[in-house]
Amino acid sequence: MKAFTKKESESWRNYYEVTKSSPPRDTLVRAIKYLKKYNTTKNKLAYDIGSGAGYDACYIAKQKIKTIATDANPLLLDIYKEHKNKYPYLKFVHSRLEDFEFNKCHLINASFVLPFLSIRNLNKVMHRIENALVKNGIFSGQFFGVEDDWNHLSLVSNKKIDNYFKNFEIIYFDEFIGERKGASGIVKHAHIINFVVKKK
Ligand SMILES: C[S@@+](CC[C@H](N)C(=O)[O-])C[C@H]1O[C@@H](n2cnc3c(N)ncnc32)[C@H](O)[C@@H]1O
Repeated sequence: MKAFTKKESESWRNYYEVTKSSPPRDTLVRAIKYLKKYNTTKNKLAYDIGSGAGYDACYIAKQKIKTIATDANPLLLDIYKEHKNKYPYLKFVHSRLEDFEFNKCHLINASFVLPFLSIRNLNKVMHRIENALVKNGIFSGQFFGVEDDWNHLSLVSNKKIDNYFKNFEIIYFDEFIGERKGASGIVKHAHIINFVVKKK
């Protein structure tokens, strides 16, 4: 699959700058809490997909969980070189999600990346995620629902989400519909589905 164009890569520069010191996403914090409560974090493998500047990935690595962050944006290579010195459990793989091959794993975190895939690729990636997770493996992240203003992205209905999650148990599900200012400062009518699910 083709690499990000320079323009596409650059369009994220400001977002990475603004978010690089953010706290971890609430859905990820919930996922880690759950892993710790019902499992240990020992000998676990986690992926942070569409990882951006890496605050979620670093948070997972801080728990001493082997963490692979992956993103298609080459701008991140330098950022992760710096993270690597601080977080020995963290590795970055530069790849498009559509081309990414997972190993068997215990956690996949997908914060605000799934809507950026075409529906066809989203279906494919969801299938790979389900196959990659071990039984009781955790998947956390967001979808954008059909009422979201950003209809150039892949918006999904609750029925479609139910179908994606038919082999998962819901641990946390929260639907937000309303005006929201994103990290880039843009206000939009947002429809966000936050989830943490466990593979059956
Ligand atoms: C909204 S940002 C989210 C970043 C981070 N997870 C967060 O929550 O701040 C979306 C990220 O997805 C990446 N991305 C978009 N399309 C992608 C694709 N097809 N494959 C891999 N990464 C992609 C972008 O480069 C960007 O870093």
